[in-house]
Amino acid sequence: MAKLFHLVGSPRPDSESLAGARVFLDNFRKARPDWEVDEMSVWSDELPEFDGEILQAKYARIAGRAFTDSQRDAFAVAERLAVRFALAERLLISTPMWNFGIPYKLKQWFDVISQPGLTFRFEPARGYLPLVKDKPTIIILASGGDFATGMNRGRTDLATPADIASPPSGSKSSCFPQPPNSGTDNLIQCRELFFEVLPTLGGNPVWLPAVC
Ligand SMILES: Cc1cc2nc3c(=O)[nH]c(=O)nc-3n(C[C@H](O)[C@H](O)[C@H](O)COP(=O)(O)O)c2cc1C
Repeated sequence: MAKLFHLVGSPRPDSESLAGARVFLDNFRKARPDWEVDEMSVWSDELPEFDGEILQAKYARIAGRAFTDSQRDAFAVAERLAVRFALAERLLISTPMWNFGIPYKLKQWFDVISQPGLTFRFEPARGYLPLVKDKPTIIILASGGDFATGMNRGRTDLATPADIASPPSGSKSSCFPQPPNSGTDNLIQCRELFFEVLPTLGGNPVWLPAVC
């Protein structure tokens, strides 16, 4: 069964980004009733601290050393999380902006799954190469400030992926800015627009800024 993986980045029960994701998912489920939606909260689901044995396992891999038993056990948790993500055909990330970036628990998820031989490999001549296939991705970002229309008072948006903030020419990465103070109605409109666009995207992230 095809799967959409939803990564929930807000710990708040009345989260704006999660509310956005819920509207998107309602539409998604109507249009794709046969799809499974796999939801993971980086706050309440199992997510190991990236220290100790799992950290040593990463260094062992980089150095080409065999795992100890405890490193293998620790690394297995990262493998399970990476496989859960890798098995999805679509990715949805809903997240707040925290101090101009993403919440530390969401960053922790990236730190846990970004492992050599699991999600990427490195070749000296070619650099970093992905081991997970590209997937159309939607990111729903809620922020208190308006970073979509230049009303950010000179502060840098460190939450928007760099290739979306400055897409290379010819890139299909998409940013749909909203008018200032647009509120929920516009957010819903944007989500509907994204839903139209989602199936046609070839693995490039889509960015939905939501000013709350
Ligand atoms: C710890 C923390 C840091 C925040 N930092 C920023 C920030 O740098 N810029 C901003 O525009 N809003 C910031 N906010 C406001 C949140 O982005 C805003 O309340 C958003 O709606 C939270 O998303 P959520 O409703 O999905 O949890 C911050 C909120 C918190 C709790």
